[in-house]
Amino acid sequence: MADTQRHPFLQGLSKHRGAPPTVVVIFGASGDLTARKLIPAVYNLGHDNLLPAEFHLVGYGRKAIPDAEFRTLAAAAIREFSRRELDAAVWDRIAANTTYVAGGYDERAAFDRLAAHIAAIEKKTGREVQVLFYISTPPSVFAPILDNLGASGLAAKHLGRPHHAKVIIEKPFGRDLDSARQLNATISAVFEEHQVYRIDHYLGKETVQDLLVQRFANAIFEPLWNRNYIDSVQITVAEEVGVGSRGGYYEQSGCLRDMIQNHTMQLVALTAMEPPVSLDAEAIRDEKVKLLRAIQPLATGPGGDVARAQYAAGLSAGKAVKGYLEEEGIAADSGTETYVALRLSINNWRWQGVPFYLRSGKRMARRVSEIAVNFKRPPGTLFADGDRFNLAGNTLSFQIQPDEGLSLILNAKIPGLETRTQPVKMSFRYATTFGSNTPEAYERLLLDAMIGDGTLFIRGDEAETSWKLCTPILEAWAADGREGMDSYPAGSWGPANADALLAKRHHVWRQP
Ligand code: BG6
Repeated sequence: MADTQRHPFLQGLSKHRGAPPTVVVIFGASGDLTARKLIPAVYNLGHDNLLPAEFHLVGYGRKAIPDAEFRTLAAAAIREFSRRELDAAVWDRIAANTTYVAGGYDERAAFDRLAAHIAAIEKKTGREVQVLFYISTPPSVFAPILDNLGASGLAAKHLGRPHHAKVIIEKPFGRDLDSARQLNATISAVFEEHQVYRIDHYLGKETVQDLLVQRFANAIFEPLWNRNYIDSVQITVAEEVGVGSRGGYYEQSGCLRDMIQNHTMQLVALTAMEPPVSLDAEAIRDEKVKLLRAIQPLATGPGGDVARAQYAAGLSAGKAVKGYLEEEGIAADSGTETYVALRLSINNWRWQGVPFYLRSGKRMARRVSEIAVNFKRPPGTLFADGDRFNLAGNTLSFQIQPDEGLSLILNAKIPGLETRTQPVKMSFRYATTFGSNTPEAYERLLLDAMIGDGTLFIRGDEAETSWKLCTPILEAWAADGREGMDSYPAGSWGPANADALLAKRHHVWRQP
């Protein structure tokens, strides 16, 4: 397809973004993520001609599944979950090179079989291919998989050469600081850091990447981006869904581990970090780590910086829904939080004194993720008369999802013969400017890993720094049991204890 006929998101892409011949091996091939995200991502990359000419997909899992059945399952996953309809011509090309290897994750001999399978593919292609291992299993088997990739020699395949092996590791990356350190140690015993791609799918979202562009490609923001002009920042990652059928997983996780430690902290880092010296992966990740290190430890006691809650029964999208404690697989006296709000202080030159408020929860009023930057008010001498002048603070909000875009609240004169004001909103919407059907996060991330660009992945020290902040909160909660756990009706904007976090500074949560 000629470049000019391509979707704006794809224009000019091919020149810089060619991946070498690749075998993608998915561990956990019959899992939920594989069906919902990974297979559709491969398919859509194929549809956009972004897969290398020599591309092979190998599913690996405990269940014995014949190749043909794996292909049928994959096609069904595309039909159900892909952003595009299945186009038989595109899928047939991928399916012709799609195979399956059955084996245990701690079964050393099975990894030798996998190595032989990959060697046979390589032999058939007649050239060196890179292998990209995608670990999309429950975390309990991360370590055996990594060990076996090491022992079988697969991790070191073509190491020192351009097409060396790589590994993508799905979340959760540990469940506290100790386990994250342990996982990093297991990884680094087998892989070199440049081979490792720790995923946080929020970094693959278009709007999250756009944060860097908005901040650093526009001269108007940088001079204002500091404690002199910014009053506070609110980051919301709200979901309308409850825990659904994932109760078993969620009970062991909770909102802090599931959403805050990774996705929300990444949004904080990108919003607040210093300009990197270049767009290189290391330059950007260095700045993110520096920022995360500047966040002060959070006070967990009453009146502190942290609020947690569980959703109670309520109305979601007009339907009566159960409370968390009544959901399937949840203990009646569960101490797992479905909502977290934090007040962060960033102790550096740029941000000292500017509170960063974070909140995330399930079963909230609606699905919305946004970053709202609230500016200070101008001196009140001219427009102080509250009867005539309805003034709002200027807020720049990055709408991460849905309805992706950017908006700025300004104050404007109401047309008429006297001077009255009202806040107005200036907006940019992705869908209006660029059209819809943008690539999914997993497409971008899979392509980046194939190409060897780690910018949108988490470095080991980054994961640990974020855990360093979150672990003391988890420890305090574990010691407190249910003490301090608030609740909020499903379909609401969250609990009262989260409002109290803001009240200290006379702030209130935005209604996104
Ligand atoms: C995942 C969490 O990482 O992110 C889920 O495990 C959550 O609990 C999901 O629902 C949200 O992702 P998105 O892209 O829908 O905002």
